[in-house]
Amino acid sequence: MAIEQEKFEQLIKQFTLDTDQLKTVADSFRKEMVSGLAREEGASMAMLNSYIGMPKGDEIGDFLALDFGGTNLRVLNIHLTGDCKAEVIKKVARPLVTEEYNLINKDAKADDTFDFIADMVAEAVEGVEDKKFYLGHTFSFPSIQENIYNARLINWTKEFAIPGVEGEVVNDLLKAALERKGVKNVEPNSVINDTVAVLLAAAYQYPDTRIGVIYATGYNACYFESNHKDGAAPSIVNMECGNFDKLALSSCDEELNAKSERPANQHLEKMISGRYMGELLTIAAARLSGKEIADDFTAIDISDMLADDENSTKTLAIMKAKMGFECPECAQKLRELAKAISVRSARLAAAAMVGPIWHIAGDNPIEAQHIAVDGSVFQFMPGVQDTIKAALAELLGAEDAAKISPVLVTGGSGTGAAIAACVASK
Ligand code: BGC
Repeated sequence: MAIEQEKFEQLIKQFTLDTDQLKTVADSFRKEMVSGLAREEGASMAMLNSYIGMPKGDEIGDFLALDFGGTNLRVLNIHLTGDCKAEVIKKVARPLVTEEYNLINKDAKADDTFDFIADMVAEAVEGVEDKKFYLGHTFSFPSIQENIYNARLINWTKEFAIPGVEGEVVNDLLKAALERKGVKNVEPNSVINDTVAVLLAAAYQYPDTRIGVIYATGYNACYFESNHKDGAAPSIVNMECGNFDKLALSSCDEELNAKSERPANQHLEKMISGRYMGELLTIAAARLSGKEIADDFTAIDISDMLADDENSTKTLAIMKAKMGFECPECAQKLRELAKAISVRSARLAAAAMVGPIWHIAGDNPIEAQHIAVDGSVFQFMPGVQDTIKAALAELLGAEDAAKISPVLVTGGSGTGAAIAACVASK
């Protein structure tokens, strides 16, 4: 099949951000943070107070952690040792979507989803009914909080669409389900976002961490705000920066938006996260080949293409499965498109780190720090971590960039929720 070189080059250009463009993104990001904190109209980042600060490390006891934020749901029984360590005593994990059921789409019923969760909580405490557990809930969707317990879902993201949950206090829905299921010894007492969870957990390992990032199915970040202008106590702010919108969208981005559950929302997330990168490649590949692609590429396909051998063996197999044909020249082009999409994602992720780095430093020099990152894209997509480092140097200069260490912190959703449950129980 013949590939039109011009069309290909235009597509690559759509996914290319030069240094100046990246600097503009980082700069507007920093401004949007201030605008969101001041609750200005039109601010794209919600900048939500989490009502929790950095942990001390002396948190101790057994706590339940519920991780609700992706298609896989987890309930963990975690022992905090009191000296910056967390041990998983029991873990129950189950998908919310299988071929038999879907507990996250428009046809799902909120009570069914929360009953399903309550059953998993019951399983996690099976055999220890005589002991009371506080439960920390890592709920990874934009939620407005009044305190550490009370988080009201603003809107679903990541293509979740369960009716009847937006506007509700999610822990109340969980409590009601626990009551329906007769689980009497578990008390949900806190809610945190997954970015907050990763930051709390990272503080145990790297005390200089002030920024937490999730770079996975979804994309978001939080940071520790020591100087709330409204007089609130120092606390971690969930930026909900997946919704950052001061971005030049390409026509492929526009097409993806139009097909999504919420076309006007989550523009940055749709350019960065694992949930959408594959779809962007589908859109680009369909334009290039002039063929419809029924089965979307995934972020895993992109990773496979990036790690492929010089004969594009894996890419050819993926093409055959998803596009119905294979051709070595097209496979090569597909890999270049996949690379452009993933490099743009990582460069934008770096710009979104630089915003809070600048904000935290203010007029002072940037301090040496770790940035805690969890998520499959950061962990597994070839080249992403190196691209972030290079982009940080482009944006900050080599000297300041050398002070910044983005580091993978896994298991934060569990540990962070246990820490939150412990803090809230005091
Ligand atoms: C949600 C965030 C979450 C992120 C990563 C986004 O879609 O809005 O709350 O932190 O995904 O899970």
